[in-house]
Amino acid sequence: MVLSGTQLDGVALVVGSGRGIGQQTAFTLAEAGARVVVFADKDIDPAKESAEESKLYATHPEYQATHFTVNVIDEQGVQEMVDFVVNKFGRIDYAVNGAGIDSGIHKPMADTDIESYDRIQQINSRGMMLCCRAEAAAMRKQSSRSFTTRIGTRDIGRGAIVNIASANSFVGLLGKASYTISKHACLAITKMTGLDHSPEGIRCNAVCPAWVRTPMLDAEFAKNPEVRAQIEAMSPLKRPAECDEVADTVVYLLSPSASFINASHVVIDAALTATVRMH
Ligand SMILES: NC(=O)c1ccc[n+]([C@@H]2O[C@H](COP(=O)([O-])OP(=O)(O)OC[C@H]3O[C@@H](n4cnc5c(N)ncnc54)[C@H](O)[C@@H]3O)[C@@H](O)[C@H]2O)c1
Repeated sequence: MVLSGTQLDGVALVVGSGRGIGQQTAFTLAEAGARVVVFADKDIDPAKESAEESKLYATHPEYQATHFTVNVIDEQGVQEMVDFVVNKFGRIDYAVNGAGIDSGIHKPMADTDIESYDRIQQINSRGMMLCCRAEAAAMRKQSSRSFTTRIGTRDIGRGAIVNIASANSFVGLLGKASYTISKHACLAITKMTGLDHSPEGIRCNAVCPAWVRTPMLDAEFAKNPEVRAQIEAMSPLKRPAECDEVADTVVYLLSPSASFINASHVVIDAALTATVRMH
């Protein structure tokens, strides 16, 4: 059975869609019926190739895909990205903010490298804030849409945003202060965007995944099989998440089915953050 409320038809912008979770989310948006998907990333070639690949999965008869180069640390660049989508396609119905980094370094707070700390905050939290700010500013200028169900017609607002946060938005990981702090900030950015813009019919939510099997994680598994064994031992479902499991939740939160969910989050971690480990 397909829920009609998860069928999309509007214009999507996915930031950080050259690879990984962002890329798969953009593909799922195309599959779910989006009329346009804009693949934004700091790396032009992967964004361009992903936009091309999305045409294989798209279901909207007039589907269009394009790419845009953006570095989310650049305030003007983020504004230009949003202006590009609005000028070319008229509006932004769905925005996903998935550009993010992790330094890979494990060090206790006392040994935190400030340059690395600043860079992580600049991309993961300030960059996300810049994206939400520009997207909400564009969405509030566009008309509201409605959705008809078997019991009537409801207002689904002017647009929806989903931020890719993390299980680290709730819990710490030894030696990962910079990343954990940045991901806690993602939740605050999500709450404040959703709260401040609720009167204008703009929703903003977050997904909080743990251990997603991206090509990067697969490469890590190949280099160091112990990492896979550790994840399998610690994950309550004994495996990492697949990228499209995260993508499905993002697309649900953007869809008319989620029209009353705002300033909230979905944890996608197989109960990892609900677990107290005894051994
Ligand atoms: N993979 C996981 O296990 C996992 C778990 C929890 C949360 N997350 C979060 O999900 C998001 C995506 O992670 P991923 O694993 O798919 O990462 P990834 O590295 O595979 O993909 C990230 C994408 O963002 C782009 N990007 C990075 N910095 C950018 C910048 N400054 N401006 C524009 N684009 C930029 C990259 O080019 C890349 O295409 C991140 O925010 C990450 O913290 C990932």
